[in-house]
Amino acid sequence: MDISHRKRTLLKVIVLGDSGVGKTSLMNQYVYKKFSQQYKATIGADFVTKEILVDDKLVTLQIWDTAGQERFHSLGAAFYRGADCCVLVYDVNIHKTFDTLNNWHDDFLKQTDTENPDAFPFVLLGNKVDVDGGNSRRVTEKKAREWCASRGNIPYFETSAKEGYNVDDAFLCVAKVASQNE
Ligand code: GTP
Ligand code: MG
Repeated sequence: MDISHRKRTLLKVIVLGDSGVGKTSLMNQYVYKKFSQQYKATIGADFVTKEILVDDKLVTLQIWDTAGQERFHSLGAAFYRGADCCVLVYDVNIHKTFDTLNNWHDDFLKQTDTENPDAFPFVLLGNKVDVDGGNSRRVTEKKAREWCASRGNIPYFETSAKEGYNVDDAFLCVAKVASQNE
């Protein structure tokens, strides 16, 4: 299929969430189809790009991976400027990472210069659903969906960066909501 003549769109996506929830792993699985058990904390922020077809249109996702660790939180407003979507990630096995979603969500909106905060597109990922066959889960899907509903119907996906479960679907949704204002 020749898609070279079509208009290209660059979409900026910011990934936020507590340290260790799997932000880097999700991106590595999505872009490189790779997973590593080893934890290497992200310092500062870095991006990867991936081209993807959304409803017959070629878009480039520029996905910014950020550091969850407190001492690296100094990215600031300049970094978030021009974001088209914010992906929030928590670990379904660690309740605290779910509780802090409010902070990540509110901080992001505070730092962005978005004209209409209520309409800004977020997507929530509940990661590590593979762990212990789901037996060590601390946050139910119902609870996560209730939080999403309370925050203006945020799309929700349960994922495993390790097994690649739902990762492509989640980022396709990200690309769709990110391009909705184009
Ligand atoms: P920071 O960079 O500190 O913010 O952490 P992060 O959110 O980028 O987490 P990272 O992707 O580095 O993953 C942390 C640890 O969890 C690593 O040891 C990963 O191998 C592991 N991990 C990530 N995703 C999954 C998953 O879906 N399942 C399992 N079992 N382990 C995962
Ligand atoms: Mg990381």
